[in-house]
Amino acid sequence: MKKIAVLTSGGDAPGMNAAIRAVVRHGIYNGLEVYGVRHGYTGLMDGDIYQMELGSVGDIIHRGGTILRSARSETFKTIEGQKKAIEVLQAVGIEGLVVIGGDGSFQGASKLTNLGFPTIGIPGTIDNDISGTDYSIGFDTAINTVMESIDKIRDTAYSHERICIIEVMGRHAGEIALWTGLSSGAESIIIPEVSYKIEDVLTRIKRGQERGKMHSIIVLAEGVCSGEELQKSLNEELQLESRVVVLGLLQRGGSPTAYDRMMASRMGAKAVDLLIDGKKGVMVGWKNCQLTYTSFEKAAEEKHSVSMSDYNLARSLSI
Ligand code: ADP
Ligand code: F6P
Repeated sequence: MKKIAVLTSGGDAPGMNAAIRAVVRHGIYNGLEVYGVRHGYTGLMDGDIYQMELGSVGDIIHRGGTILRSARSETFKTIEGQKKAIEVLQAVGIEGLVVIGGDGSFQGASKLTNLGFPTIGIPGTIDNDISGTDYSIGFDTAINTVMESIDKIRDTAYSHERICIIEVMGRHAGEIALWTGLSSGAESIIIPEVSYKIEDVLTRIKRGQERGKMHSIIVLAEGVCSGEELQKSLNEELQLESRVVVLGLLQRGGSPTAYDRMMASRMGAKAVDLLIDGKKGVMVGWKNCQLTYTSFEKAAEEKHSVSMSDYNLARSLSI
């Protein structure tokens, strides 16, 4: 293994730059040439590749986003697109590819491996919904961004005695909603993994009112419904004023926390070691506080689930 490449794909996440930095620095430290692919799989098919040096990744560990840019590509979902990508990599003499992204990006990486090209995945998505790992780069930064936002919203909800519905990202998963709801003391947390009844939300609001708490925070995962839809259901039953806040892309930005920088650095170096050791078609993971690796196929078979003990804890603490 003399030449490897790295790309970022799918939704960007704080810490991706720290991972890119680790791949480049650890790769060069081990005598490899490291190439960067811009714009994810789109750039890969277009041959948007350049050799990276130690200085290419200087002063980026603290920056959110990805210096390699990211993209989503329907063309890459075709066999023609995947074959084109391999042709481009082989034309430059690249022998292994590190893909930093979410489960969608890993499906693409798996297709390249099945076509004979070695790929290694690094879990990078704020959703933290990837099976095969307990942690995905960007999650800690995102939940701190959301928690700080909820704390601010609670101030005005208290002042105006309002119900505030905060819609958070996570695609089809409720990890962001659960962690931020529990850590901000939200009165209700609504996630795709657990069916909810509007009556339960109303009961919790009314129980709070009976003890003089006239405001309420509801954290809603986007995979359940929109904040407006939930607000409509509540308005049909309740006369209290309510507001909806959609945090949106705020959750994807910001300087990565120390934890994200640490995890990204560990996983980036691990991905290089795995390529050097001849591994392919596997994703780096964090399990039981240890770095591990799991085949894309095995990871795809597992269904990601949230911690029901945390969900129940959140319900009991916000009674
Ligand atoms: P994430 O990696 O954050 O889950 P996406 O689901 O959007 O983001 O996937 C990112 C990109 O990965 C897609 O735009 C596409 O190019 C590629 N991809 C996703 N699913 C597949 C698939 N089944 N086969 C090939 N490529 C895929
Ligand atoms: O996968 C990360 C994520 O932020 C999801 O939580 C969200 O649903 C999606 O990306 C938004 O994608 P886009 O930035 O392309 O609108």
